[in-house]
Amino acid sequence: MFNFDFYNPTRVLFGADRIADIGQHIPEDARVLITYGGGSAKKYGTLDEVKAAIGDRVTFEFGGIEVNPHLDTLMKAVDIVRENKVDFLLAVGGGSVVDGTKFIAAAALYEGDIWPLWSQRQPLSEALPLGCVMTLPATGSETNHVAVVTNTALGQKSGYSDPLLFPKFAVLDPTKTYTLPVTQVANGVVDAFIHVIEQYLTYPVYGKVQDRFAEGLLLTLIEEGPKALTDPQNYDVRSAITWSATLALNGLIAVGVPQDWATHRIGHQLTALYGIDHAQTLAILLPGLLQVQRESKKQKLLQYAERVWNIQTGDDDARIDAAIAKTREFFELMGLKTQLSAYGQPKTAIDEILDNLERFNMLPMGERQDIDLARAKEILTLSY
Ligand code: NZQ
Ligand code: ZN
Repeated sequence: MFNFDFYNPTRVLFGADRIADIGQHIPEDARVLITYGGGSAKKYGTLDEVKAAIGDRVTFEFGGIEVNPHLDTLMKAVDIVRENKVDFLLAVGGGSVVDGTKFIAAAALYEGDIWPLWSQRQPLSEALPLGCVMTLPATGSETNHVAVVTNTALGQKSGYSDPLLFPKFAVLDPTKTYTLPVTQVANGVVDAFIHVIEQYLTYPVYGKVQDRFAEGLLLTLIEEGPKALTDPQNYDVRSAITWSATLALNGLIAVGVPQDWATHRIGHQLTALYGIDHAQTLAILLPGLLQVQRESKKQKLLQYAERVWNIQTGDDDARIDAAIAKTREFFELMGLKTQLSAYGQPKTAIDEILDNLERFNMLPMGERQDIDLARAKEILTLSY
């Protein structure tokens, strides 16, 4: 196992009606900016609950943070923060709103153009504190220090992380997920599943605890994911999915083990170029990536086949083939298509995506840094 620091300072307020408790975790004299997305938080009453819980504090609102949040939109919120001396941010929504609010927290205290720092992953020296009410179990953004923002002028979707961006608290109320469209529930389950895979399906380093945690999360998502599609108001099912998505990307299973993230890095290009939902891009790419990387991931693929999919028979190659096929079937069962062509893109997309990977210096990638341009092309060709 590699050396590691484990640091996760986010307080989790889990369960029904926990929004009522957020006032205890925001300074009494705070000037709060509440951020939200395209309207779901307003429509389903979550915003009103949040306002009631904040009480008499001075509050401002900023709505309209879009899916895959845009730099330009977020900079408008930065202006509001500066004009009104806001000193606490409260995100209400899915991963896009929480990520966007992390960006606002960073940009509001930064002099000058923050994009070079963000896209080159330079550290921050300060950021505003934020809390969040997460309404979509998927990204894990509620308890991590990662945020992904799109600069539409450059066509660049860029992930960033800094310890100053951990939320102070995260409300995880499974009942808030009842209003999600079924496609977003499916996206969330698949995104969380692939977060686990990116940290688990690499090469063994005797990370036995991390492996067992990861396998537990994968099995939970496989068991509960389909139920969440057909039984939307099942509190137990939604609780299991909500907590799985959080634990999939709060740093716990990442400690001391190699990490891949190639599926995500290529996936972000598909979203930036074609607007395909984040989880859909991952479902398109992962089966092809596992196929191309099957030799370097061989030991973990065999472990995954046995412990997650209960594949006991056949030689090594047959078991790996079966595990990749089961993975694809699971995404399809959740309603996500797993080939790029099924999303209406022409084959020229492959070269466009490769151009982006080069233009934004994304290569090489993977846990062994062995995915170069040629291998990325193989992955994309198989994923088409
Ligand atoms: O905008 P509103 O009206 O709120 O509607 C949203 C949006 O249309 C809707 N929604 C959210 N909660 C709802 C709801 N509708 C009804 N009821 C509710 N309770 O769902 C739609 C999708 O929301 P979005 O926030 O975009 O989805 P998600 O949570 O999947 O976030 C995706 C973003 O997170 C980034 C992705 O790249 C993408 O930009 N990621 C962030 C990560 C992180 N911070 O660690 C890691 C991930 O790998 C990912 O890259
Ligand atoms: Zn993801």
